[in-house]
Amino acid sequence: MTIQTPTDVVRHLLRDRTRIPVVAQAQAYAPANIALCKYWGKRDERLNLPVTSSLSLALGSLGSSVVLAPNPAHDVVTLNGQELPPDSAFVTRATAFLDLFRPGPGFGFRLEACNTIPTAAGFASSASGFAAVVRALDALFGWQLRDRELSILARLGSGSACRSIFPGLVEWQAGVAPDGMDSFAVPVGVEWPELRIALVLVSVREKELSSRVAMKRTVDTSPLYASWPATVARDLADIKAGLKARDFARVGAAAERNALTMHATMLAAVPPVLYWQPDSVRILQRLWSLRSGGLAVYGTMDAGPNVKVLYEARDEARVLESFADVQLVRPSGI
Ligand code: PMV
Repeated sequence: MTIQTPTDVVRHLLRDRTRIPVVAQAQAYAPANIALCKYWGKRDERLNLPVTSSLSLALGSLGSSVVLAPNPAHDVVTLNGQELPPDSAFVTRATAFLDLFRPGPGFGFRLEACNTIPTAAGFASSASGFAAVVRALDALFGWQLRDRELSILARLGSGSACRSIFPGLVEWQAGVAPDGMDSFAVPVGVEWPELRIALVLVSVREKELSSRVAMKRTVDTSPLYASWPATVARDLADIKAGLKARDFARVGAAAERNALTMHATMLAAVPPVLYWQPDSVRILQRLWSLRSGGLAVYGTMDAGPNVKVLYEARDEARVLESFADVQLVRPSGI
């Protein structure tokens, strides 16, 4: 069987496993993740296959908790205790993903999602959301898939979700196979309990341009995109070597450079993609001035205006006093 669509992937991975629930409801949790080396650009739009590998850090207790149960005929989706309108973007996306797993027409799901990562505060929660849904599906239907297979299924919901199947430092290996069966996340296997990340809030507004649209536009129109794969190859090697050696400056510098290069590729797209707000620039400038003053802090940014700051546990107090609207995170699994 050739695997070309998400439905083919699901059929291939589930093979003869049952599509009948084995429990009344299933609960699952997955952490959000922040990439130190970014995923930006797909080589296959339908299967969410990336142009390059990427590497992230899981955010411990910041993520998504979901409860999943069968529901007569149609889907009901709640977020943080509130039922969402069926035509909302969140429900449309969740329903389209759940379509891949329905035992048959007329089978609905009740999906109750709770985010401990602030959903409305512009921090990516789709990665933890899809990963938690995949774990809950596995428990509801009793599939007992391996983490690697769960990672592939989560990838179909949102690329970065494949990394949220694991705690700690995780590499999403891009793979080369057209069917994406070799494109999944694996733990990096580095323990570094002192590594920390802080979320610095700039805006609570929903992003205007989805990462999917922004990525495609960058790949299709940015003259800088041609150099992105080589940038990632260099930064990823640097970050991995830095992690192995517990060399914080090396990891931080490579992560910051990688994020800024990613945003540079977007800025050169036509029309330009700019997620930054004036306050994002102010925070980065503050961070650079703190660094010149000897504080080891490095910044990274995703498809939104908020800034994430990498630091080590011993500098916690100084990070807290240096930024307004900051949430300190203790990553899990490192
Ligand atoms: O997984 P998506 O489609 O939400 O894309 C994630 C893109 C970035 O957050 C900007 C980078 C990354 O690797 O997480």
